[in-house]
Amino acid sequence: MSKYFHVSSFVALALMTSTHAAANSHDESSIKRGKYVMDIGGCVSCHTDKKNKGKHLAGGVGLHTPFGTFYTPNITPDEKYGIGTWTTEQFIEAMTQGVAPDGSHYFPAFPYTSYAKMTRQDLVDLKTYLDTVEPVAKAAPDHDVSFPFNVREGMMVWKALFFDDSPFKPDPSKSEKWNRGAYLVNGPSHCIECHSPRNFMGGLDTDNLLTGEPKSPKGEKIPSLLNSDGSAFSKWSHSDTVFGLQMGMTPDGDFLGGSMGKVIANTTGKMTEEDLKAIATYLGKPDKKKTAASKIEKSQSGS
Ligand code: HEC
Ligand code: HEC
Repeated sequence: MSKYFHVSSFVALALMTSTHAAANSHDESSIKRGKYVMDIGGCVSCHTDKKNKGKHLAGGVGLHTPFGTFYTPNITPDEKYGIGTWTTEQFIEAMTQGVAPDGSHYFPAFPYTSYAKMTRQDLVDLKTYLDTVEPVAKAAPDHDVSFPFNVREGMMVWKALFFDDSPFKPDPSKSEKWNRGAYLVNGPSHCIECHSPRNFMGGLDTDNLLTGEPKSPKGEKIPSLLNSDGSAFSKWSHSDTVFGLQMGMTPDGDFLGGSMGKVIANTTGKMTEEDLKAIATYLGKPDKKKTAASKIEKSQSGS
C-alpha cells in the first residue's frame, strides 16, 4: 500500500516536473531563437562598445555620420538606463516604426528602416532574449549632431519622405531559400543600409539598392552587391559568397575589413550555413527579375 502511494506520488511529481519543463523549454527555445535573431540583426555591432570593453548591449558606441555623431543607447534590461520596463509591443513599435514609448521618433542611424521588415515572431523571440541579458546600470552619452538631426520632430518629415514601413513580402514565384535571403538582406541583416547610395538627407536611394556606396560616411568605398553590373562581386560564385561571409576572405585572398569586418564578426560569421546559402542564392544568382538589378538594367538601357 505504501509502495503504491510512493509510486503514484512519484508519477504525479514526474508529471508536474514535465509540464514545468515543457513551459521552460518553450521559453528556452524562444531565447535561443532570439539570440540568433540578435546575431542576424547585428545588434552587437552597434550596441556593444567592444573597443572600450563595454558590457554586452550596454550601448555607447559612437556612430559617425555626415550629420554628427550618434551614440547608441543601452538596450540591456536595466530599468533605468536600459529598456527593462518596455513591453514587447513597445519594443516592436520601436523596431518597426522607429517610435519610442514616449511617442518621439528615432533617428535612422538606428536602422529600423530595415528592421521594419522583420517578422513579428523574430521580434518577439528577440525581446525574450534581450530580457535575459545582464542589466547594466549605465547611461549612454547624448548624441552630438546638427540640424535637422538634432530635432526629433524633424524625423517625422524624414520618415514621411524616406521610410517605408511595409512588411516583408515574399515573392511566391521564387524559392523559399531565395526569399529567406531576400528577408535577411533587406530586413534584419540590413545589408542594403551600407551597400546602397543615399541622398543628401541620408535617405536610401531605393532605385539603386545594393549598387554600392563609393563615398560612405566613414570614408569607406562600399562595393556593389549586384550580380549583373560587372562588379567584383558579380564574379563571386555561391560558395565564394558563403565562404567570404563566414571567414571574411574574398576569392582573391583579400580580407574584408572596415565596417564589413564588424558585420562578419557579429552577423554573417554567426549565421548558419543554410542562411549564408540563402543570401548567396538571393544575391548571387543572375536573375533578370531581381528588383534592384532589373532597375539598374532599365535605367542603363533607358539612358
Ligand atoms: C547601425 C547601428 C545600429 C544597429 C545595427 C542597431 N541599432 Fe539599435 N539603435 C541605434 C541608434 C543610433 C539608436 C538611437 C536612435 C535615436 O536616438 O534616435 C538605437 C536605438 C535602439 C533602441 C531604442 C532604445 C531606447 O532607449 O530608446 C532599441 C530598442 C534598439 N536600438 C534595439 C536594437 C536591436 C534589437 C538591434 C539588433 C536587431 C539594433 N538595435 C541594432 C543604432 C543601431
Ligand atoms: C556597416 C556597413 C555594412 C553592412 C551592414 C554590410 N556591409 Fe558588406 N561591406 C561593407 C564594406 C565597407 C565593405 C568593403 C570591405 C573591404 O573592402 O574591406 C563590404 C564588402 C562586402 C563584400 C565584398 C564584396 C567585394 O566585391 O569585395 C560582400 C560580399 C559583402 N560586403 C556582403 C554583405 C552582406 C551580405 C551584408 C549583409 C549581411 C553586408 N555586406 C552588410 C560594409 C557593410
